[in-house]
Amino acid sequence: MNKKIKAIIDKKNKSQIVSLTAYSKNIAKILDKYCDIILVGDSMANVLYGLKNTHKITLENIIQHSLSVKKGVKKSLLVVDMPKGSYKDANSAKKNAKNLMRSTGCDAVKIESNKMNYKIINELIKSKIPVMGHIGFTPQFKKKFRIEGASEKKMKELLNEALLIEKAGAFSIVLECVAPKTSKLITSQLSIPTIGIGSSSYCDGQILVTDDMLGISGFYPKFVKRYASVDAVIEKAVKKYTRDVRLKKFPNKKNFLNE
Ligand code: KIV
Repeated sequence: MNKKIKAIIDKKNKSQIVSLTAYSKNIAKILDKYCDIILVGDSMANVLYGLKNTHKITLENIIQHSLSVKKGVKKSLLVVDMPKGSYKDANSAKKNAKNLMRSTGCDAVKIESNKMNYKIINELIKSKIPVMGHIGFTPQFKKKFRIEGASEKKMKELLNEALLIEKAGAFSIVLECVAPKTSKLITSQLSIPTIGIGSSSYCDGQILVTDDMLGISGFYPKFVKRYASVDAVIEKAVKKYTRDVRLKKFPNKKNFLNE
């Protein structure tokens, strides 16, 4: 087993797993100093491309951004999202995941569960492709953004889904917008780590979309804590630059190139 993946599994019940998303080298380089896992998420669809959902992101988009991110990653586990439509059946999943791993040098892929793709996950693992699962709110398959696993019935269903993903061989699993009591139950029943987003502190680790926590995406649901207001920092700098250019204060002699 990949050493970095073993290190992530070994964190369960010992220390919380820290994870964030990245789509480019400069951000990845900063995250790499602190994170255990960096995810090239298909959330790039909303965050970077201004699309209303993640469905149109292609394997080529993901590869392009992963190549950039990889340049900034030295120590973190690099996980890359398999885009919608790239794992419809075992053969295409294997072909596309191998392409992703080979062309980007990532450590693992992430697959959203549709309650029918356990066998596909297992086939990837048999082909030595490490897989992170993803349950709860799965944007590739669900339209409505809402809390998942809140009723007793849904709690049992979600636990069963998580157990089947573990049995298929996944090394960890993202719980997105899962009710706290259900996250607690799943985390206690699984031997692989759970990584929560909007799923309480009962998980073995946390992930957020970096642009959301930096205050740059404009998307701030209750589960996002804004650790900075980078939008305001950018605006201040752009405003200053605009004024300097208009007043011919920039460039000044210090910025001239020597002849
Ligand atoms: O695409 C993404 O960024 C994700 C995280 C929200 C887990 O899947």
